[in-house]
Amino acid sequence: MVISFSCSASRRPTRSLALLFILVVMKTPVHGQSTSEFVSIDCGNNSTYYDTITEIQYDSDSGFAEGGLSHKISAEFMAGAGNEQQKTLRSFPDGPRNCYTLPSTIGKKFLLRAMFTYGNYDGLNRTMDGSPFLFGLHIGVNFWEAVNLTSVDPTLTIWKEVITVAPANLVFVCLINFGTGIPFVSALELRPLEDLMYPFVNTSVSVSYFRRIRFGQATEIITRYPTDSYDRFWESWPQNSYPWISVNTSGRVRRLPGNHAFQVPEGILQQATTLDTNYSYFEIKMGVGPNLDPKNLQLLPIFHFAEINLSNQNRRFNIYSDNDLLFRDFAPSRLRVDSMYGNGRFLHNPTATFLLNKTRRSRLPPLINAFELYTLVRMDNLTTDSNDVHYMKEVKKRYNLARKNWNGDPCSPREYSWEDLTCDYPKSNQNPRIVAIDLSANGLKGGLAISFMNISSLENLDLSHNNLTGAIPDYQINSLKVLNLSNNQLDGPIPDSILQRFQDGLLELRLQGNPICSKVNDTYCSNKKNTTPTVLIAVIVPVVLVSLLVVMCILWKLCWKGKSGDHEDYAMYEDETPLHIDIRRFTYAELKLITSNFQSIIGKGGFGIVYHGTLEYGDEVAVKVLMETSIADSTDFLPEVQTLSKVHHKNLVTLQGYCQNKKCLALVYDFMPRGNLQQLLRGGDNSLNWEQRLHIALDAAQGLEYLHELCIPAIVHRDVKTPNILLDKNLVGVISDFGLSRAFSDAHTHISTVAAGTLGYLDPEYHATFQLTVKTDVYSFGIVLLEIITGQPPVFMDPQTVHLPNWVRQKIASGSIDNVVDKRLLDGYDVSSLQSVVDLAMNCVENAAIERPTMTEVVSRLKMCLPAVPRLLQLTISGVPTISNEGNFHSDHAGRMSETSLLSGR
Ligand SMILES: *[C@@H]1O[C@H](CO)[C@@H](O)[C@H](O)[C@H]1NC(C)=O
Ligand SMILES: *[C@@H]1O[C@H](CO)[C@@H](O)[C@H](O)[C@H]1NC(C)=O
Ligand SMILES: *[C@@H]1O[C@H](CO)[C@@H](O)[C@H](O)[C@H]1NC(C)=O
Ligand SMILES: *[C@@H]1O[C@H](CO)[C@@H](O)[C@H](O)[C@H]1NC(C)=O
Ligand SMILES: *[C@@H]1O[C@H](CO)[C@@H](O)[C@H](O)[C@H]1NC(C)=O
Ligand SMILES: *[C@@H]1O[C@H](CO)[C@@H](O)[C@H](O)[C@H]1NC(C)=O
Ligand SMILES: *[C@@H]1O[C@H](CO)[C@@H](O)[C@H](O)[C@H]1NC(C)=O
Ligand SMILES: *[C@@H]1O[C@H](CO)[C@@H](O)[C@H](O)[C@H]1NC(C)=O
Repeated sequence: MVISFSCSASRRPTRSLALLFILVVMKTPVHGQSTSEFVSIDCGNNSTYYDTITEIQYDSDSGFAEGGLSHKISAEFMAGAGNEQQKTLRSFPDGPRNCYTLPSTIGKKFLLRAMFTYGNYDGLNRTMDGSPFLFGLHIGVNFWEAVNLTSVDPTLTIWKEVITVAPANLVFVCLINFGTGIPFVSALELRPLEDLMYPFVNTSVSVSYFRRIRFGQATEIITRYPTDSYDRFWESWPQNSYPWISVNTSGRVRRLPGNHAFQVPEGILQQATTLDTNYSYFEIKMGVGPNLDPKNLQLLPIFHFAEINLSNQNRRFNIYSDNDLLFRDFAPSRLRVDSMYGNGRFLHNPTATFLLNKTRRSRLPPLINAFELYTLVRMDNLTTDSNDVHYMKEVKKRYNLARKNWNGDPCSPREYSWEDLTCDYPKSNQNPRIVAIDLSANGLKGGLAISFMNISSLENLDLSHNNLTGAIPDYQINSLKVLNLSNNQLDGPIPDSILQRFQDGLLELRLQGNPICSKVNDTYCSNKKNTTPTVLIAVIVPVVLVSLLVVMCILWKLCWKGKSGDHEDYAMYEDETPLHIDIRRFTYAELKLITSNFQSIIGKGGFGIVYHGTLEYGDEVAVKVLMETSIADSTDFLPEVQTLSKVHHKNLVTLQGYCQNKKCLALVYDFMPRGNLQQLLRGGDNSLNWEQRLHIALDAAQGLEYLHELCIPAIVHRDVKTPNILLDKNLVGVISDFGLSRAFSDAHTHISTVAAGTLGYLDPEYHATFQLTVKTDVYSFGIVLLEIITGQPPVFMDPQTVHLPNWVRQKIASGSIDNVVDKRLLDGYDVSSLQSVVDLAMNCVENAAIERPTMTEVVSRLKMCLPAVPRLLQLTISGVPTISNEGNFHSDHAGRMSETSLLSGR
């Protein structure tokens, strides 16, 4: 049995030892922490107890997490467990993200450790069954690290540590389900640090533990509290035999006054490892294994040195990271610690190898007392505005809303935001805000909570079809534009503050279906959508007209059975659709209504004209009225709509509904307020910056990747071009018009051989083969990428007609790559990322389809060009120590295959 923290018996703090420790602390000016500030949680255990080894108090996790299931490790491993925390765990089979909420203090620096002991708790032998067992960790709203338990001995404990700054008075630790095994956690430990410690850690940079080692002859494998008052884990250096020499001192090892950065325990500094004097260099090799991505490994080493060998001979050495000289001719100070950390500069060191090499003038070989190695964790994503979070949690509690994904931060990161909330993500350095809440038909009971109105950025609140009772409280509402309280049990007078805004036309109020409406008679109690009275007329008149038409139409039908007139729009429900289409079917009249009689044209495309529209509930839509009405008779349109209605991806425009009958043929999409990429690239002064361009390119690539790889059969877009890449209000790229071209071109191959596709974007191979494949889209995407880089259209005059790829080739051949870049970018781009994107684009526009990359490849290459470390690459960075009582460091899945290996030489 191998589970154990091997704190040896002699180290166990008996009461007298603990007392002694306190005395020592009092004598030295250490800014120690008392355990009262520790937060220690034994996940899956329901009791509070003091750990027998550390005497730290552990609490049940019941107040810190929602949901999840508590488990014990399998009985066969129980007896061998080294401590209580290893025996239980909490697993989270439901939901993509499950968070623990730990108390903290805003701006406070702390160390957070999560521990994982699988112990075959589910009896599935999951770590050893040969399939990947991997899940993720977020610290707050940022990706921290992956936990890879694939092929890990079930009895081992794996731990992860992060040093970070609390963004609020609470901190979330989230387990992310990647679909490769149920996430679980055995223990969580939060240890406050001094603000001056780890000075390179701030609100936007955290560091994750890769290795923390003490040298010399330690009696335990892991040294922690109480030796380290911050309860950091120090692994002992396993090498003590020749030529390694352990030295120690009983003398005091001091710090320079004011040096509080690391607070290495004195007991650790009193020991060191050096070499026999015949040897001259000392390698610390952390063994980055094959599945780490060395290219993206950003390491921060901290070396702690104190001369404790009190001979009079000198000791000087150079310190290298890989082959880079970090510190020249360093001489450790006598009985005083020097912590060398290069001011927090992260290093590129693919092998995680560090070298201490004796200089010529030195008599003694290098010596080292302690070493820490961290990797960078970017804290780019911001948490939701803390007031919004607070009030949202009140709402959740008040109405007892146990929603699966209402967990952790409400808006961030975007892909885990709470369902039924809409958030606004400002581009500048501001926190996301909640702008819309839709809790209609959620069985809400009781009064209307004032917390909703305290969410000061809220614009749209829909609480219709609930059982809310009592009066509407008198709110001072600020930003609210739509308040839908229809079909509840609300009664009593409507507060003036709300009424006033309604009368001023600032608020769309809906109260129909409430007792309140039996007493008052105003438009907000009528069934139709209403904003201000003036708008109301505009709405009511057409509604009345339409109703008249309906009546007439029915009469007409009754009288002239079989003969269809102009209004067969309303007969459409008669023609049964054999297909099951989940989205809304609109009538022509409805389209007319939502587009205000097709008033506002927002675009003209190959397939028709696009109008702006507003649905009943205020959602903006784009209505694409297709020109070829003859397609209505075609059998291709509805199957195509059915396919499109099933395609859901954040980078593909969402189809809200359609209209199909003799009178109309239209598709209704989500409205994309920022227009299309072509407009953005060519128009105006508000030009996109380099990073925005890359993000949009990546968005589009991901949308296409989804169509190509995840739709079965694959969907070939056939008309990828900048006008078909739309932008939502946060400038997220969304692809439109996919699939449509198929419905059209297939239906008309006998009429027209003109391929779907647009001049300048069309795959040259198509002209030869007339085959449209996914690689056709890759070619067009390459052109899009070139447009993004150059700002030029695909075909232009310079001075003769030139095709963009040829122009780029010429420019590159005749000079530097900077000549191709859009002048509007000025110098705002990174040359190496530019080079990679140009290479990728040129690769996509290879003449031979077979030479072009797949969209999956495109996506991963684009991710590498983005300045932020993409999530998948971060995934692979980690140093995961494992604990056993065998005295060995176990190899670890995430990378460090070898034991901490060391070499020495003359
Ligand atoms: C929780 O910890 C207590 C104290 O160590 C222990 O007695 C109890 O058995 C544990 N509970 C479970 C479910 O393991
Ligand atoms: C855990 O303890 C709390 C109170 O201490 C109790 O209400 C709850 O039922 C317990 N849960 C389990 C699973 O034992
Ligand atoms: C777990 O799987 C491994 C590898 O397949 C096997 O050797 C081992 O006996 C299994 N253990 C149990 C308890 O099923
Ligand atoms: C930030 O959020 C974005 C979007 O949700 C996500 O793709 C990215 O990985 C996050 N960044 C970090 C560092 O977690
Ligand atoms: C150590 O330094 C000496 C010069 O002092 C140099 O010749 C030698 O190559 C270095 N060793 C290593 C392993 O870099
Ligand atoms: C409201 O409550 C009543 C009884 O209390 C129940 O019959 C009704 O279904 C509820 N309505 C909604 C929308 O939950
Ligand atoms: C409401 O007002 C309309 C006209 O404004 C009127 O025709 C109708 O009778 C009124 N209904 C009630 C219940 O007062
Ligand atoms: C997880 O660990 C296994 C076994 O060490 C390794 O094969 C796999 O590549 C790792 N996965 C990741 C994503 O690091």
